[in-house]
Amino acid sequence: MSGPRTISRLGTPVREALDGAVTAIAAAGCDTPSLDAEVLLAHVLGVGRERLLLDADLLVSGGAVRAFQEAVRRRAVEREPVAYITGRRAFRRLELAVDRRALIPRPETELLVEAGLGLDAGARVLDVGTGCGAVALALKDERADLAVSGSELSAAALELAAENGRRLGLEVCWLRADLLAGVPAEFDAVLANLPYVRDRERAALAPEIRLHEPPRALLAGPDGLAAMSALLEQLAPRANVRTVALEVGAGQAPAVAQMVLAAGFARMRLERDLAGIERVVVGEGRR
Ligand SMILES: C[S@@+](CC[C@H](N)C(=O)[O-])C[C@H]1O[C@@H](n2cnc3c(N)ncnc32)[C@H](O)[C@@H]1O
Repeated sequence: MSGPRTISRLGTPVREALDGAVTAIAAAGCDTPSLDAEVLLAHVLGVGRERLLLDADLLVSGGAVRAFQEAVRRRAVEREPVAYITGRRAFRRLELAVDRRALIPRPETELLVEAGLGLDAGARVLDVGTGCGAVALALKDERADLAVSGSELSAAALELAAENGRRLGLEVCWLRADLLAGVPAEFDAVLANLPYVRDRERAALAPEIRLHEPPRALLAGPDGLAAMSALLEQLAPRANVRTVALEVGAGQAPAVAQMVLAAGFARMRLERDLAGIERVVVGEGRR
């Protein structure tokens, strides 16, 4: 048997389900409707995205119909980020669990991990403001010899980081701390992607960020530098920290570079992201 009645009884062809979802997601103003729809449908069906395109017989049926409708509603109506809907985000070689307890790790933050890859064997490294643990865990994954710790002000984010560490079998030490307050003086290097959005820019953030990601993970005072400058003040007397790498917002690198030198680091270099933006300020050696 063939024809529309048979198809509707067995389920909806993937192409048809995707077309409807893309229309709804695009109408809501999301930037990448096709990609979003494919990632959500692959998640609901428990298959890889490529299978949606290659398997012409694949149907959306039963509970998957409702689950996909709900995922598309959350994306289009609530403007929820895809990663919070699927609960997963790829970062370097890892697949991290993510949820509203912490910021979704961004691709440009992988540069911070790269800054850590050049550290001496056995170095003790602290990822300050670790969120879901992305930087600390990726670094431990790629440099098992390093002694890696991750610290957080938010107990909820730290809990998520620890869950990720356990699930991935990566040994990272987790600390609850406001920047370096009460943190042992043993570290050779500090990496940090702290909040750097200016308070007044909050209203202009994309709804995915403004409505769903934790404000304390984003905002850092009138110039966006409050968290970083406080960290550098605390680093100044800790002369055993010989490397610092800080992720910064567009246009912030010159000011942060000055602060890094003022904190007593001898040399400074800037790393650009794929968009050509000066994204990571690295300070090395001590004066
Ligand atoms: C921009 S998010 C980055 C999270 C993570 N490093 C990443 O790249 O995905 C900044 C993180 O710093 C944390 N944070 C903010 N202020 C802090 C403070 N004073 N001490 C420690 N962590 C802080 C936030 O809770 C948030 O998880």
